[in-house]
Amino acid sequence: MAVRCLSDVCVQREAAASSAAAASWQQPLAAESFQRRYGMLLAQPVDNHTQSTAWIREATKHAPGSPAHHRAYVAPPASYGEMGASMFSLLYFAGFNTASRLLDVGCGSLRLGRLAIPFLDSTNYHCIEPSLSALAAGVQHEVGHDLLRLKWPAFALNADFQPPRDRQTYGETYDYIIAQSIFSHVGEDLLRLALGRLRQHMTSRTVFLATAILPGDPSWGELAKAEEYSGWLYPACTGFDPRRLETIASEHDLAFVVLPWPHERQTWFALCVREADALCRRVADGLPRFDEKRILNVQVALTHLARGA
Ligand SMILES: C[S@@+](CC[C@H](N)C(=O)[O-])C[C@H]1O[C@@H](n2cnc3c(N)ncnc32)[C@H](O)[C@@H]1O
Repeated sequence: MAVRCLSDVCVQREAAASSAAAASWQQPLAAESFQRRYGMLLAQPVDNHTQSTAWIREATKHAPGSPAHHRAYVAPPASYGEMGASMFSLLYFAGFNTASRLLDVGCGSLRLGRLAIPFLDSTNYHCIEPSLSALAAGVQHEVGHDLLRLKWPAFALNADFQPPRDRQTYGETYDYIIAQSIFSHVGEDLLRLALGRLRQHMTSRTVFLATAILPGDPSWGELAKAEEYSGWLYPACTGFDPRRLETIASEHDLAFVVLPWPHERQTWFALCVREADALCRRVADGLPRFDEKRILNVQVALTHLARGA
């Protein structure tokens, strides 16, 4: 099957869209049943309008029983695992530990959550995600119910960058915030909204790790520029001029530092509150430098080995 990848989102083109493809396990959980099953983990009541119908359309194009449905919603399915590992590794090299409190902005189908939830202490994983469908599929197929009851992650279903906030432990600040492939889909207005809201949950110890498409990234030249766009664009992407990104960050009293961490299609950067800009620089300086060609060679060698070549 041909797979077309737009930035971090893959769209399976050859539809296997039979009625069987809409097998019941691929259907989104109705808002009420998600509420009934996982209500104790939800910070706000589920709002039906947050369901993404685009996701359902894409999901039904995948073969029934294939994990590609909820994985394709956030990324090329083939690199779902690697990108999760890359995010987790970046966090780890940035000082992440089991006691860290993490906010995963746009956690999608829990690509990072499936690694971070078991790693973190109970209640320390929080997520904001507007797509109930993607999140419910992530819970069902990537994380499992037992882990939820063991680790008590918290989910906030909204598109307003409002973290979970109505349990005793909520409404507080985070040690780490991560937004992978979120600002690659926004106009400047939404970036401003995001930084304004999330800044309230940062202290001088918070490291905010994020990606955007900047000049030098493969698709930058072809994209709508974030300064000329407003709102959310998906699965297509927007590109940022790094000077605009830095200016908007500084409007919110945040320092902006580009990170030398590999990403196939985007650029990683860190945000720290202005008086703690040294923290962001320390994160950048402390990251290991990778020789991407060598990693690729190892992966190619392993593939050959697996094929018995
Ligand atoms: C490209 S996916 C990335 C998902 C996840 N960060 C990952 O790397 O697997 C973008 C995600 O952002 C979510 N999203 C859309 N609008 C959002 C908003 N206003 N706030 C937070 N997330 C949003 C989408 O539903 C989707 O899950």
